[in-house]
Amino acid sequence: MCAVDVTPVIATERLILRGPVVTDAPAIAAMAHDVAVAGMTTSMPHPYSESDAEAWIEHARNCDWRRTAMFAIEHRAFGVVGLLGFDHDRGPRAEIGYALGRRFWNRGYATEAVRGALKWVKRDWRKAVVVAGHFADNPASGQVLCKAGFLYTGDIQRRPSRARGRDDVPTRMMVWLA
Ligand SMILES: CC(C)(COP(=O)(O)OP(=O)(O)OC[C@H]1O[C@@H](n2cnc3c(N)ncnc32)[C@H](O)[C@@H]1OP(=O)(O)O)[C@@H](O)C(=O)NCCC(=O)NCCS
Repeated sequence: MCAVDVTPVIATERLILRGPVVTDAPAIAAMAHDVAVAGMTTSMPHPYSESDAEAWIEHARNCDWRRTAMFAIEHRAFGVVGLLGFDHDRGPRAEIGYALGRRFWNRGYATEAVRGALKWVKRDWRKAVVVAGHFADNPASGQVLCKAGFLYTGDIQRRPSRARGRDDVPTRMMVWLA
């Protein structure tokens, strides 16, 4: 039986994490069409169009929630401010990824979203380990992960960045234990 029977909704003080819907595409494209955002991720292209957002939403809506969980991060007042997801694309452990629109940075939203998501991971998704990797030139993401309880493993991987057109960006690996 699937550990997740219905599309989960995670509520935090200021945010709601929920499955994305097709009407989110304009807001997702607006936040992701920024090389400062996409260039810190492995998979977002640059430029990032509304059809890229629609494809991501379609993928999220059809994913197997036992292995992949994708959320739109909705601020209670401002609407969709970012994305957060877990997948198993690179190994046996769930790996977290997230991005916030630039105008919403440095207000604690990513930390709040990651902490809320990890509570869900432990209680409902029933995973005991989550891994993360942030590009070495992205200390803000490292700070988010540290504040949410991740620890550095000491491993540095070389990972692709679609938006940068590179496949060798030094990436600091981290782990969280429930
Ligand atoms: C990384 C990102 C998600 C952070 O989102 P956010 O909502 O601004 O994060 P928070 O406000 O919760 O926390 C950011 C922390 O980083 C710190 N920070 C910001 N810029 C920093 C820098 N250049 N060096 C070190 N720390 C930095 C902030 O001070 C804050 O820490 P503090 O609360 O201890 O002061 C956001 O910048 C983003 O979406 N970037 C592009 C995509 C991305 O990097 N995704 C993650 C891929 S691993």
